[in-house]
Amino acid sequence: MTDHILVAVAWPYANGPLHLGHIAGAYLPADIFARYNRIIGNKVLMVSGSDSHGTPITIRADAENTTPEKIFSRYHKDFQESWEGLNISWDLFTTTDTENHHEVSQRIFTNLLDNDLLYEAKADLPYSVKEKRYLPDRYIVGTCPNCGSENARGDQCEECGRTLDPQDLINPRSTTDGSIPEFRERSHFMFRLSRFEDTLKEWLEDKTFWRPNVLNQTTGLLEQGLKDRAITRDLSWGIQVPVDGWEDRRIYVWFEAVIGYLSASIEWAKEVAKDPDQWKNWWNEESKSYYFIGKDNIPFHTIIWPAMLLAYEEGLPLPHNVPSNEFLNLESGQFSTSRNWAVWVSDYLSRYEADPLRYVLSATMPETSDSEFTWRDFVRRNNNELVGTYGNLVHRTLTFLQNNFDGTVPEVELQKPSNDLIGDANKALLTSGEYLSECNFRASLKTAMDLCQQGNRYLDDREPWKAIKTDRNHAAETMFTMLHVISTLKILFYPFLPESSQKLHGYLGETGLVESKGWKSTPLIPGDKLPKPEPLFQKLDEEKVVSDETQRMKKNA
Ligand code: MF3
Ligand code: ZN
Repeated sequence: MTDHILVAVAWPYANGPLHLGHIAGAYLPADIFARYNRIIGNKVLMVSGSDSHGTPITIRADAENTTPEKIFSRYHKDFQESWEGLNISWDLFTTTDTENHHEVSQRIFTNLLDNDLLYEAKADLPYSVKEKRYLPDRYIVGTCPNCGSENARGDQCEECGRTLDPQDLINPRSTTDGSIPEFRERSHFMFRLSRFEDTLKEWLEDKTFWRPNVLNQTTGLLEQGLKDRAITRDLSWGIQVPVDGWEDRRIYVWFEAVIGYLSASIEWAKEVAKDPDQWKNWWNEESKSYYFIGKDNIPFHTIIWPAMLLAYEEGLPLPHNVPSNEFLNLESGQFSTSRNWAVWVSDYLSRYEADPLRYVLSATMPETSDSEFTWRDFVRRNNNELVGTYGNLVHRTLTFLQNNFDGTVPEVELQKPSNDLIGDANKALLTSGEYLSECNFRASLKTAMDLCQQGNRYLDDREPWKAIKTDRNHAAETMFTMLHVISTLKILFYPFLPESSQKLHGYLGETGLVESKGWKSTPLIPGDKLPKPEPLFQKLDEEKVVSDETQRMKKNA
């Protein structure tokens, strides 16, 4: 049966280039999941876009004395190049600055207003006397009332994940000049989030398969009780509040950014599929949605967005799963755009291939706890695991076949243990597919690597280089079995390493795209002649890479 799977991925603020933390946190797992679902025959819609509004953009524009438009277009372009270089397979990667997104956001706002789910209320908002303006939430920092962290922002405490309003902070101060803001009364539109507390609690009841951190954070917030939230701001950059007399306010960036999942689906149907109603296939009760996000975004996707969907229209599906990752650290520090402590994707791609990075970030993906990227680990995994284990197995097999069988798939009758290894390879497809469908990416990748090791052991035991001289049939059987194993590995690694799998697909004599062949190993046909292979991966010089890259990072930071 075909399922419609919405792969919804966090909208990155377009205020700086993408770094490896972003990729490991959301974009790579989303891409792996999308590729797996497509290859098994599901209908996938994978969407996101540049978050072009909000104070992260205006702060950057102010700092550079330029306009928010210039900032977000510059980084939107950087994002597009990074996606292409890393083979992130979007159906649509748009921005929140499209006419379509403005229209859908305003439509939802108006609909909620008409249904009394928004109401006008006076809120005390931080005002800078010196700058003579209301300050955005993110310009205020202070002590978190929940966990006591001293650097909580006015929109959220990064330490404990609690969403906040600026007036919740203890000892608030402005980040622009350290001054203490005055809280002045100002009318704003509030969203009746409190109405949805019970429905959300019920909805969560069967979400026992969610990752523990996501489930715990969400139930914790629901236990504390939901408060209505202001969803308009005193800003001039963003989406207009569609109400007369509100021309000087904008819709709060978080309220409209999450709407992007829906608006991007609508845009895709109109502009890409050329069938304006097609988005509905991914937005009904039979379809399933998966939201790939970093852990700082959890409440917006497990509480606020679901509440908005409930508020807006009956029948729109709430998130099926929100497989949020923890953080990836860099050489024992936190990735930081402002301190320039990062490995930027575009910079990485100017020196290395995409697949080794996809491999290393998958193998160390911060699925259930924070993990770390180091250049030494990157080189070692590339050299030992990709080149030494997987690449070597493929290359040994294919060159042996060229040198001793003229590259031709032999005709054999399989005896034990060859039968067993083929059976194990087929089992690996089942196991690994199950892991992928549960978003257990590291476990799935390990299944593939385990099969490589089994293959290498089998080859060592069978010694076809000796057998070829005494018992050609024995060697032929080994080759036939190994071809089956690597044709299985091609599939197992495909979601993680799409470029290498496509290459291997060609070395196995196949044409077309590997993803069109399904989640199974294609049987090799005796008598088929395979082309001459090249090594799938390149060895890197450990000391050189580590020293070059460490210097580069220190120089920039
Ligand atoms: N722009 C936000 C960030 O980078 C994420 C927004 S996800 C969205 O943290 F769904 F709200 F768009
Ligand atoms: Zn906190």
